[in-house]
Amino acid sequence: MTSAPPKTFRIKSFGCQMNVYDGERMAELLGAKGMSPATDGEDADLVVLNTCHIREKAAEKAYSEVGRLRREDGSKPLIALAGCVAQAEGAEAKSRSKMIDMVVGPQAYHRLPEMVAEAVRGARPIDTDMPAISKFDAFPKRKRANPSSFLTIQEGCDKFCTYCVVPYTRGAEISRPWKDIVAEAHELVETGAREIVLLGQNVNAWADGGRGFAELIRNLAKVDGLARIRYTTSHPADMTDELVAAHGEVGKLMPYLHLPVQSGSNRILKAMNRSHTVESYLATLEKMRAARPDIALSGDFIVGFPGESEEDFAATMNLVDEVRYASAYSFKYSARPGTPAATMDGQIAPEVMNDRLQRLQSRILANQLAFNRASVGKDIDVLIERQGRHAGQMIGRSPWLQSIHIETDAVPGDIIAVTTTSAGQNSLAGAVRERAAA
Ligand code: SAH
Ligand code: SF4
Ligand code: F3S
Repeated sequence: MTSAPPKTFRIKSFGCQMNVYDGERMAELLGAKGMSPATDGEDADLVVLNTCHIREKAAEKAYSEVGRLRREDGSKPLIALAGCVAQAEGAEAKSRSKMIDMVVGPQAYHRLPEMVAEAVRGARPIDTDMPAISKFDAFPKRKRANPSSFLTIQEGCDKFCTYCVVPYTRGAEISRPWKDIVAEAHELVETGAREIVLLGQNVNAWADGGRGFAELIRNLAKVDGLARIRYTTSHPADMTDELVAAHGEVGKLMPYLHLPVQSGSNRILKAMNRSHTVESYLATLEKMRAARPDIALSGDFIVGFPGESEEDFAATMNLVDEVRYASAYSFKYSARPGTPAATMDGQIAPEVMNDRLQRLQSRILANQLAFNRASVGKDIDVLIERQGRHAGQMIGRSPWLQSIHIETDAVPGDIIAVTTTSAGQNSLAGAVRERAAA
């Protein structure tokens, strides 16, 4: 069945920051083809579901999102299933839901406008190839940046942790070329970015020719008008001495490191194929703290990996206290079809996982609160990002990525000098000292 060419679109992104970035780029691509984003509450002609496959019932959730797009009068928008579920499900998606018009994997977004045109003609195109030409080359120039903007510099993963779908959904590790990244950083800064968050599943494995990630950071720090640089997510195995040194020397590199460890037990780390040990992880953190004493640390944890004993779990709890994370994410292990861990012996009962997750999360939150409380009374620079809930209130970020609420007439993109006045589990409050010169 043919349909009218879409004039408006909506992109709904789930999952990691790389999906957020891809969503922004797809919006720009569709915009360049004459379509415009649907306004709040407006029915879009085209809906792109930019999905995540990392944990639990991801595919089922995506199909129920699709189902919800049917309108009361029985009609529906054009629907593109994108993201990691699209990659994992492939052609299967079209038979599981007749409502899906297009299936587009994360490495094929450059073909989206073409696929929309095919769908308008009544075809049901699918593209889950991982071509050599990169989607990045097809994206238009950046036109409007957020004060803190994402920039994907590396895609895919070769690490094959035994629980993880990313190497299958995003493909092999690929670094974007140095010159493209530098050009995009300039575009972002020229259109309003004050902070750039470099993204990759293994961002610190980035390399181009002989140049590595630390050199890239040092170079980006020279971009005028760019005030802050962050990156996520890094793998402990790729924390080079050069990168650690950059944290001590590059003022624009923010004192925050998200370095997922996953477990505090070497036995479990080995079964996860993590390639680091608790000792090597702690040694890296020690070097980092020597280079940048005020560094805030963050991490990811999985509880209930197959074979995890109470003793293994206790080691994870101890590690949390030893590191004193400023924040951390923790997840129940979720068996992903096709990954080695899904068929390992010793799958853990859901009640046990729930109990461990609760204990771990309360330990993490206690550490987070302690970290936030220790920030009270400090004079810090805050990057204003957005309006708060009531008039005159703005929300920004501290150098340590804490969310901070301030009464101020500063606008998004300003960097202001603030004294922190109070702290909660998830945010700080502060009072303006004066506008910083930055
Ligand atoms: N490349 C990054 C992030 C990967 S996905 C890294 O290596 O750290 C983000 C987080 O999701 C992971 O760090 C892990 O904690 C969690 N995760 C991934 N697969 C999972 C699974 N099957 N079950 C539960 N959590 C998972
Ligand atoms: Fe997944 Fe491991 Fe790769 Fe991270 S490093 S994306 S957890 S396989
Ligand atoms: Fe999810 Fe894919 Fe990101 S599985 S976490 S959207 S790489």
